[in-house]
Amino acid sequence: MNGLSGDSSLQAEREATYPPPYPEAWYVVARAEDVSDRPTQVRVAGNQLVLFRDGGRRVRAIGAYCPHMGANLADGVVRDGCVECPFHKWRIDGEGQVVRMPDGQRPEPRHRTRSWAVEELHGWVCIYHRHGDLDPGPAPEPRYLPERLPEIEQGDLRLCGEYDAGPVHMHLLEFVENSVDFQHFAPVHGDLRVPWTNVRVPGMRLEHEATWRRDDREPHVSWFENSAKLVFRGKVIPSSGAVAVVRLEGPGGIVRFDFSLNARPGRLVMFQSHTPVAPLTQHVRFRWFGDSNMSKLQAAFIVGNWVSQWRQDIGIWERKIYQQKPLLSRGDGPVHQLRKWYSQFYPSARAGA
Ligand code: FES
Ligand SMILES: [Fe+2]
Repeated sequence: MNGLSGDSSLQAEREATYPPPYPEAWYVVARAEDVSDRPTQVRVAGNQLVLFRDGGRRVRAIGAYCPHMGANLADGVVRDGCVECPFHKWRIDGEGQVVRMPDGQRPEPRHRTRSWAVEELHGWVCIYHRHGDLDPGPAPEPRYLPERLPEIEQGDLRLCGEYDAGPVHMHLLEFVENSVDFQHFAPVHGDLRVPWTNVRVPGMRLEHEATWRRDDREPHVSWFENSAKLVFRGKVIPSSGAVAVVRLEGPGGIVRFDFSLNARPGRLVMFQSHTPVAPLTQHVRFRWFGDSNMSKLQAAFIVGNWVSQWRQDIGIWERKIYQQKPLLSRGDGPVHQLRKWYSQFYPSARAGA
């Protein structure tokens, strides 16, 4: 982000044009291996949480600040599957209920704090954020669960790498809206880049074909497909390039890419997650899995190509506003359809679309 886009009044002006910053969704908050018996503090959707493993080794998520006098529970310890507050030693279970007070006092049902639904997804810990709902107590049922891939759980696809890209100063909606912005592929993603870098490969261009559609059976899912071919001196190189089938699950919190190369066998599944930690601030992570035809090196090459292309968008996203009434032209994709679909993730507010 450059100096001007970091200006706080400009950020506030940009933010005011967008729908609210935290649509309802599953968001990645940690790597599963980083959550242990010590309470771990994370920030998501404007909230501070602590994560910990209960007696059954299940990851739980409760509000980070003690409902008694506000001590930080990340400074506490886990005892008997509960977090013990460092201040007056109340114990709080994974549903946010105070279950024990010292000196023989008995907690009442009102002694509780907020909790979140938690799922582990292929090495990530995800929590379900509800739009506008801040009641303490057990978390209500999420509208859907993140889809697991049996091929990963059974070991047919193995972990090939991960990358924590850190914060990007954009609204979550932009990532999803990019998929129907058919006219940006040539100007923004037309140059082939050296994987993981911004360096252009001279003489080589990329030609993209893209589609977007809502899923017929799962209302919270839509699909983006992109076929990219290599072009050298104006001529398409036969059987070059790759196809990406992208499952947009929810408003863009967790996105799954299935890559296949046109020239050779091999399957690569990449997850890209966006976690809104503050308005116009997404923490972005990648994690990818390959089959037996995919070497780690080849997988890193394909993911690096994607990451280089994704970075081309960031410069635009971090400086733009949300155009509520975009002046569309014939070459644009179904922007209004997408916005209508997206508004389901704001069940208690207007999506601004
Ligand atoms: S502040 Fe946590 S027990 Fe008092
Ligand atoms: Fe893009």
